[in-house]
Amino acid sequence: NVFFKQISKSSQVSSPNRPTKISVIGTGNVGMAIAQTILTQDIADEIALVDALPDKLRGEMLDLQHAAAFLPRTKIVASVDYEVTSGSDLCIVTAGARQIPGESRLNLIHRNLNLFQKIIPQIAKYSPHTILLIVSNPVDVLTYIAWKLSGFPSNRVIGSGTNLDSSRFRFLIADHLDVNAQDVQAYILGEHGDTSVALWSSISIGGVPVLSFLEKQQIDYEKHTLEKIHKAVIDGAYEVINLKGYTSWAIGYSAASLAKVLLRDQRKIQPVSVLAKGFYGIDCGDVFLSLPAQLGRDGVLGVIDLHLNDEERQRLQESATTILEIQTQLGI
Ligand code: NAI
Ligand code: LAC
Repeated sequence: NVFFKQISKSSQVSSPNRPTKISVIGTGNVGMAIAQTILTQDIADEIALVDALPDKLRGEMLDLQHAAAFLPRTKIVASVDYEVTSGSDLCIVTAGARQIPGESRLNLIHRNLNLFQKIIPQIAKYSPHTILLIVSNPVDVLTYIAWKLSGFPSNRVIGSGTNLDSSRFRFLIADHLDVNAQDVQAYILGEHGDTSVALWSSISIGGVPVLSFLEKQQIDYEKHTLEKIHKAVIDGAYEVINLKGYTSWAIGYSAASLAKVLLRDQRKIQPVSVLAKGFYGIDCGDVFLSLPAQLGRDGVLGVIDLHLNDEERQRLQESATTILEIQTQLGI
């Protein structure tokens, strides 16, 4: 297959008779938005919830269980003990500190690194064959840490990365051009955060490449307008945090859609945080950041080789360097 750099060759699609189990670690705003979206979309047979606060955890479990009459039949269990996650197919980690208004994601690293040292070995102990989907921030650095702490092969450790930023991007482009966001193919890659990279050269709408279409029609587009859209993507999370204190619904849909692609072996291409070394000229060290990856039941199946212009390639490499600098400062 010339399209992909293959990572995983075999595909062990799980037996259709075996129940699918997803664990969600951290039942705050984000964990519960993800759990509830997974429930309504009928992606799992069993959902296990874990949090450090037993009363809040039991309250959330009961509240979801009480919706049983309106939902597909999904077993919902919860405990502060990780044994409840045993045999998970997918573990989604959302536990940890979140930003206060104006704070950057990278600023959370010290607090969340300590939590991950407790959480990840427990997950790996009870579900040695699980796929790990990291959502807690800063997601790229924490995905690297989860990879190290779990000892899992890199194809089974994924960060939600710029999956969410790409949705924000597609929404803003769709809004600007008055089309359906699902018809907009557009990627934000790199760090889920301030150094993310917008790939203008690869945007297409209904299969029509936008920039080359505009050039052929000799329609002027202003770089300034494009940059304003990318800035709105970066500022989007800060704005929501300023207004409501946290973000939750969009990441709920993003993570649930990744869960579906992975567990149903949909083999779709999604921008997510993967071990990036060796792709797109990134050779500065072991670093996770978002690239367009093909996802299926084995996790990351490959990374698509998109054409990037020189500026995009350079920005992606700078994003990798920013993440690596944090890891170096932490001594990890
Ligand atoms: P929250 O404060 O509502 O929830 C965090 C939960 O983690 C709390 O329920 C807390 O009890 C739990 N927790 C703390 N220590 C724990 C431990 N040792 N074991 C298990 N659970 C523990 O925060 P929120 O809004 O849910 O955000 C969670 C994380 O998700 C933050 O790091 C935030 O920045 C990140 N996030 C990431 C996004 C992404 O696109 N990757 C999008 C939105 C948020
Ligand atoms: C987001 C979080 C805060 O919504 O990372 O982008």
